[in-house]
Amino acid sequence: MEIQSHKGPYRVYFDDNALEKLDSANHQGLHYIIDRKVAALYREQMEHILSSESVLLIDATEDNKALDVFPAYVQHLVAKRIRKDHRLCAIGGGVTQDITCFLAATMLRGVEWVFYPTTLLAQTDSCIGSKSSINAGSAKNILGTFTPPEKVFISTRFLSTLDPVDVRSGVGEMVKVHVIDGPASFDSLASSFDNLFEDPLVMMRFIMKSLEIKQAYIEKDEFDIGPRRVFNYGHSFGHAIEAATHFAVPHGIAVTIGADMANYVAWKLGVGSEANFHRMHLVLKRNYCGFESIEIPFEPFITAIGKDKKNVGMNHLTLILPDHDGRVGISQYENNEQFREICVSYLDGQRFQ
Ligand SMILES: NC(=O)c1ccc[n+]([C@@H]2O[C@H](COP(=O)([O-])OP(=O)(O)OC[C@H]3O[C@@H](n4cnc5c(N)ncnc54)[C@H](O)[C@@H]3O)[C@@H](O)[C@H]2O)c1
Ligand SMILES: [Zn+2]
Repeated sequence: MEIQSHKGPYRVYFDDNALEKLDSANHQGLHYIIDRKVAALYREQMEHILSSESVLLIDATEDNKALDVFPAYVQHLVAKRIRKDHRLCAIGGGVTQDITCFLAATMLRGVEWVFYPTTLLAQTDSCIGSKSSINAGSAKNILGTFTPPEKVFISTRFLSTLDPVDVRSGVGEMVKVHVIDGPASFDSLASSFDNLFEDPLVMMRFIMKSLEIKQAYIEKDEFDIGPRRVFNYGHSFGHAIEAATHFAVPHGIAVTIGADMANYVAWKLGVGSEANFHRMHLVLKRNYCGFESIEIPFEPFITAIGKDKKNVGMNHLTLILPDHDGRVGISQYENNEQFREICVSYLDGQRFQ
């Protein structure tokens, strides 16, 4: 695939031998930033890389993509004599991506970076779109830039070692992208839901389809001020669920619950329909299954959704809700008693049914 960006086009390669090719790559001027778990799991295939001159291993945690730990990353790159014509190379999931992309944007006022996404979430969604997001204090993803990579290499072989929950977390973002494309795309994904987990070729087909759908939006609105904003579907609710549970629910699972909740709120507000909620509910529920046991306390939830960074004004929420046909759109909704009651009835009842 070739993606257009403000810095020019960049390519996404689907290549199951990407690891082997990395082996024979020229390490000159390359600074690797690698998920420590991935480095351990793929030590043999990555031996050549791991013994190269500049390697930074990171644990993929939210704390490690917080502003206060960045001086250590900068010092490492300075010690490895980074220059303007050098490249950063990220091998890992969304956390590794965010750290590398932010460093690439700011180090020496900008260096190139390449990305080998190793989680489903990163392969199916975040690897294109230019965004870096890092945490500062208690604010998640509050700092960021739009810095496209120079190249992306996707090898679905990495997915075989993912924890099943991380696979479902990626599927949550995949579902989001397909809902945005319209009801037919969602139904097609829903009808292949079981095969997705069993057949790597089916998984690969839906990863490609997700990136194609996203491509159309990011090429029109790379800076997320217009049509791209529908990619926040499931996220206003999802982020509030993550915050209220202290991140006990992984991002893409929270987005899955968030999408279900958006469909429910749309139905109850009269924007969408009951039929549309039920059309999607069973598949969404299967993807968040097991996480129903985690309590989502209402007060922290409603406080968090009120603070969503996409909101404008104090009492209005910017929400992406589906209409009667299941097509999502962006609108402002009042954060009033009716909205709160609908949220309570979903969190305390509907999501379990
Ligand atoms: N910049 C963006 O556009 C964007 C978009 C969405 C999400 N994000 C961010 O991405 C993060 C979530 O990303 P993620 O779900 O990819 O998480 P992640 O990077 O935290 O990885 C999830 C887990 O999988 C492990 N892992 C990675 N690859 C593996 C592999 N091949 N085999 C086994 N284990 C592997 C990691 O060590 C970690 O434990 C969040 O911080 C989120 O804010 C960024
Ligand atoms: Zn997301």
